[in-house]
Amino acid sequence: MRPMSQATLAFDRWIRTAFPQMNEALENLYFEQDDRANTQGIGDALKAAIRDEGHGHIVALWREGNTGEGFDSAFDVLGNVGLYMAALRRHELTNPAREDRSPFAEASSLSLHLGASIGMAPRFATAHLAHRNRAVAGVRKSFTFLADEFLFIDENARGILCLQRAADALFRIVPLGVSNPVADVQFEAAAHALDQAIAINARLFAALDVERFFFSVRPYYKPYRVGRQEYRGANAGDFAGINELDLLLGLTRASDPHYAQLLVDKMLYMLPEDQARLRDCMRHRSLLDELLLLADDHAAAPWFQAALGGLLGVIDRFAETARQHHALLVDRFIAGPAATLDRAHMAGITASGPPLDALLRALQLLHDFRTAAPRSDVETRHADLARLRALLVDPSAEPVG
Ligand code: HEM
Repeated sequence: MRPMSQATLAFDRWIRTAFPQMNEALENLYFEQDDRANTQGIGDALKAAIRDEGHGHIVALWREGNTGEGFDSAFDVLGNVGLYMAALRRHELTNPAREDRSPFAEASSLSLHLGASIGMAPRFATAHLAHRNRAVAGVRKSFTFLADEFLFIDENARGILCLQRAADALFRIVPLGVSNPVADVQFEAAAHALDQAIAINARLFAALDVERFFFSVRPYYKPYRVGRQEYRGANAGDFAGINELDLLLGLTRASDPHYAQLLVDKMLYMLPEDQARLRDCMRHRSLLDELLLLADDHAAAPWFQAALGGLLGVIDRFAETARQHHALLVDRFIAGPAATLDRAHMAGITASGPPLDALLRALQLLHDFRTAAPRSDVETRHADLARLRALLVDPSAEPVG
């Protein structure tokens, strides 16, 4: 990899220092108000400083026009421009609802160039702040230095890493075949990773401050325009591992109409390597379907019982992470505080953009797939799992993780 240019380094330094300081100062001004959701007529000098200082860095990079420093550099610069544009959106210096193109022409051009060159959407993605957020002497990129923001991005990143680890463990069972007795170590590894994800969700639920998260962290994840087009916000689901788990465990199918749309929509918000992994795992039969095919003839075989125990242990833990996400995290940190907002501030509180009730319905569907809930309108694996559970001779055979 070639060394980073001076302009790249200077922008990165700004993104890690002055940028979060100014955002945080603004957050504190907003937060002191009776109406914490208001951003109008407050901190105008700080807003202008963020806009103008960032613009200076971006024009230098845009003139340099060099994205040939390798994927890592292009990815990092794309993230830095994206953080800047997301902050402009957060402080209402731009709003896609009142514009038909971004007022930030150079930032848009740079993002479009970088995004197209690496095969990602031209905006900051979850990976920039979570599982690909490179620390420099311990300092991760963030919008502010607020403790609740670090809690959120760190626990999100840990959660993603655990789910990736679980997906990776299951993926390695595919070439072995689910009936192979050595799959046991992989089921155990996946169960252990999911136990960690469960503990992380519980920690986040207990420690994150609802008001700080809702009013000072979440608003940076709104959709914004790059050039003419509006791009939805980043969310912690923009990595392949979660869908690899869905598909490998067989809890939904890539051909399900709702789920297929979700996969297509998120493709460009993921790293290219994640895009490739996701495509790959759409081509395999799920472990659940493998076992179902073997059930009639082999249910009593020790290898069948071991595989069934292993698979159910992973499925049960994965269902628990989905329950936590829905019933704890989304409910406490989004749905609850949203209910107290007046109508003027309701627009754009979700990262993906749709109204809250539509978003909650979409998340409920994912929850129902992952918990194999009985539903008459969509195909979940409720009946198949009930059939398999009835075949398990010794339920204590499930891995303990
Ligand atoms: C998506 C809320 C933490 C995994 C979403 C969405 C919301 C949300 C509202 C829908 C996307 C949108 O906003 O438009 C929250 C809140 C969290 C939190 C309030 C904590 C305060 C996490 C963590 C993980 C996670 C720790 C685990 C890595 C996901 C996934 C999706 C998602 C996978 C994509 C939809 C799906 O496939 O389920 N989250 N989330 N979230 N989140 Fe979270």
